[in-house]
Amino acid sequence: MAESILSGRRVLLIIGGGIAAYKSLELIRRLRERGASVRAIMTAAAHEFVTPLSVSSLSGDKVYADLFDLTDEAEMGHIELSRDADLLVVAPATADLMAKMAHGIAGDLASTALLATDKKVLIAPAMNVRMWTHRATQRNFETLLADGVDFVGPNEGDMACGEYGPGRMAEPAEILAAIEAHFAALAFPGGGPLKGKRVLITSGPTHEPIDPVRYLANRSSGKQGYAIAQAMARLGAETVLVSGPTNLPSPPGVTMTRVETAREMLSACEAALPADIAICAAAVADWRVASDAEQKLKKQPGEQAPALMLVENPDILATLSHLTTNRPRLVIGFAAETEKVIEHAVAKRQRKGCDWIVANDVSPATGVMGGDLNTVHLITREGQEDWPLLPKQAVAERLARRIADHFSTAKAAE
Ligand code: CTP
Repeated sequence: MAESILSGRRVLLIIGGGIAAYKSLELIRRLRERGASVRAIMTAAAHEFVTPLSVSSLSGDKVYADLFDLTDEAEMGHIELSRDADLLVVAPATADLMAKMAHGIAGDLASTALLATDKKVLIAPAMNVRMWTHRATQRNFETLLADGVDFVGPNEGDMACGEYGPGRMAEPAEILAAIEAHFAALAFPGGGPLKGKRVLITSGPTHEPIDPVRYLANRSSGKQGYAIAQAMARLGAETVLVSGPTNLPSPPGVTMTRVETAREMLSACEAALPADIAICAAAVADWRVASDAEQKLKKQPGEQAPALMLVENPDILATLSHLTTNRPRLVIGFAAETEKVIEHAVAKRQRKGCDWIVANDVSPATGVMGGDLNTVHLITREGQEDWPLLPKQAVAERLARRIADHFSTAKAAE
C-alpha cells in the first residue's frame, strides 16, 4: 500500500477512559488499512469501556497498560514506547488526561509516555459538555495549545449522558484526516507539488425535489470525491469541494460548498472559477422533475398516482469542458459503468470533451458503490492506464500525484 501517506508510519494511540473509546477501535482499523502500524496504551479507566483483546486484535500488537509491568519495561520501556512512534494520538482524551498533560503529571503509563515524548501529540477530547466548558479544562486546553499540542474536535452534538453541546469526540474519519494532514505537512514542508494550483471538485449525489418533502436521489456516498479533495489539498492545491448531500465531514484545508440540486451544483462550480483543474466526481442526477410542487403532494382517494414529468439536468462536466473562457487547463470526469467499461469510458471522454476520464466498473458484484475499494482505469488522450484494486483513499492519492506529475511534466516542456 505504498500509495498512502500513512504507509510505514508508527502511531502510538493512547486510549483514555470514555464512552467514545469504542470509536478508537475503528480508528485503529482505518490506520492499519492505510499502512500505518499502531501501538496502543490503555489507561486503567479505558479498560471499563473497551477490552485489551479487541484493541490488540485490531492493532496486531500487545496492549500496553501498566507502568510497572517488568516484562514490558524489559521489552519496551515507556521512553522507548513514545520515542519509537512518529506521532502520539490521544483518543479519547478525557478531562483527566488533558489535566495530567497540561501539568506534567506522570502517574501511569499513558501520562508518562506523553511526558516522555519528543514527538508531536494530537488529541481528540471527549467529555461531558460541562466538563469541557469548565474553566479548568479550558485553561488546560489553552496550555496544551501553547505547548504545541494539536487538537481535533471536540464536536458539538448529543452526548451519551443525554446533554447537548461541545464535548463529543471527533469521528474516526476526522481524526484520521488530522493524522494524514500532519504527515502530509511533514512530507511537503514547502507546501507540496500542487502549491499555487486551484482545483474544483464535485462530489456526492444531487437531490432533485418532487415536492417540499420528497426528492429523487441516487446511492452515491461521496467518499471518492471527498478523498480526492483531501489528497489534492495535501499536495498543496487550493481546493474547493462542491458537494451534494452526504454524511461526510468536511476534509481539513478544503473550502466546502454544500448544495442540493444539479443546477445549484453548476452555479457553485461557475462561481468557483477560475480554476486550474476541475474534477467531476459527483453522481449528478441526469433528470429533475419538470416542475416540483410548492406544497406536499397529497394522496386523493380513488385518484391515480401522479405521473412525474422529468427534464434533463445540465451536464456540469460537459459545461466545464466546453467553456470558451476560464476553462480549467485539466478537466477530469468519472465514468461509472456496468459493462464494456473501457469502450464506454473512451466514448464518454470524447462526448463530454474532458481531458481525462477515470473509469470504473460499478456492477453490483464489484461492491464499489458505497464500498471502500475501487478498481479504476485512467483514460487520457494518450491512452489507458490500468490501476490495481485500491482503497478509494489510495485511488485519490494516486490521482492527485498523477495530476501533480502532469503539471510538472508540462512545466518542464514549456
Ligand atoms: N456529470 C456531470 N453532470 C451531469 C451528469 C454527469 O457533471 N449532469 C459528470 C459526472 O460527474 C462524471 C461524468 O459526468 O464525471 C460521467 O457521469 P455518468 O453518470 O457516468 O455519465 P452520464 O452522462 O450520466 O452517462 P450515462 O449515465 O449515460 O452512462
